Amino acid sequence: MSLDINKETEQQLFFHNYARLPLAVTHGEGSYLFTSDGSRYLDMISGIGVSALGYGDRRVIDAIVRQSERIIHASNLFMLEPQFRLAETLLDISGLSKVFLANSGTEAVEAALKLSRKWASRSGKQEKREIVSLSNCFHGRTYGAMSLTDKPKYLEGYEPLLPGTTNAAFNDPGDLAKKVNGNTAAVIVEFIQGEGGIHRISDEFVAALNELRDQHGFLVVADEIQAGCGRTGTFFSYMQFDIAPDLVCLAKPLGGGLPLSAVIGNSKVEEVFSAGSHGTTFGGNPVACAAGLALIDAIYHDNLMERAVETGKSIREGLENMASRHPQIQEIRQYGLMIGTTVKRDASYYVQEALKRKVLVNATSGNVVRLLPPLTITSEEAQICLDCLDEIFSEEKEG
Ligand SMILES: Cc1ncc(COP(=O)(O)O)c(C=O)c1O
Repeated sequence: MSLDINKETEQQLFFHNYARLPLAVTHGEGSYLFTSDGSRYLDMISGIGVSALGYGDRRVIDAIVRQSERIIHASNLFMLEPQFRLAETLLDISGLSKVFLANSGTEAVEAALKLSRKWASRSGKQEKREIVSLSNCFHGRTYGAMSLTDKPKYLEGYEPLLPGTTNAAFNDPGDLAKKVNGNTAAVIVEFIQGEGGIHRISDEFVAALNELRDQHGFLVVADEIQAGCGRTGTFFSYMQFDIAPDLVCLAKPLGGGLPLSAVIGNSKVEEVFSAGSHGTTFGGNPVACAAGLALIDAIYHDNLMERAVETGKSIREGLENMASRHPQIQEIRQYGLMIGTTVKRDASYYVQEALKRKVLVNATSGNVVRLLPPLTITSEEAQICLDCLDEIFSEEKEG
């Protein structure tokens, strides 16, 4: 019996929690996605910042095949070499002390929250439970991660949320000083906010965060789920700031396209978890770890962080040039290959218009056109996207 892969069948089969594009994707190659009608789309979203090497990277595929032939799953009842190698690599890169592996970004955040509270409980101070996040942030969809997230649309109807969570205003050191105190267990920060529309934390805010941490003794958790793994030019985006986080959450590209996430912690927190205090059946799956190792090797071997900086800069220049001609563009924010362009209307208009021209861009935070292309994107491909946006802005003006 044939099964139509279209919007109608989608509506019949699934809960309606996604607004999927009407594309039946069959495969990918480099920076392109292919659909069942034979069309080819330039992918400037890369699976929401996941497919850092584009599609079909031989090194990742070979690592997956090799590891699958040995063993696909064994669980954390056992010791698995790919996990050990990945943990060693992440500790080498970060200079931190211990790793916990999970499957998704939200699970990494959840583990970091649990670890923070358990760490704080050791102070003997019952009230030291508070987790502070920043306005306009996004940390995931499980109850803990969602309770930190500052997006009413994502929270509506799910109350009561996790108690003991507070929001401080983004880039407002004064508000942070008001929101943290001796009862704060952790402050979680995206150094470059992704879903919130590509916003960089200010150096002034980071300085205040350092000072307040010294004063009150809380943990700083870096959520590197979207900005990490080289996308902004350093392996972790926090490396561009004068700060040493206590915990770092990593996911999205980490598994080379397979589900994998990590929490990395410093010596302060290394003894917090004991056997049984946290866990996951699938976390650190050996195939995902093998793919992740291949990804990290490729990032360094192919100088993809340097390339992200260069290509990102040329995309910014192209967008700035457009902004001088198209008043619809309000602001351009670009950090490596994390790029947000604020426009004067709902950004989904540009998503739809680009789709007609076979280019995939993303809308976030209402009026931000977001680009998260593969780190391997070529300058010619970047130019195709710029030409497409230029055409849309020109036709919009005329229309
Ligand atoms: C900064 C950040 N944290 C957490 C998450 C949640 O990750 P996941 O969707 O893998 O659960 C995301 C996802 O977009 C994210 O961008």
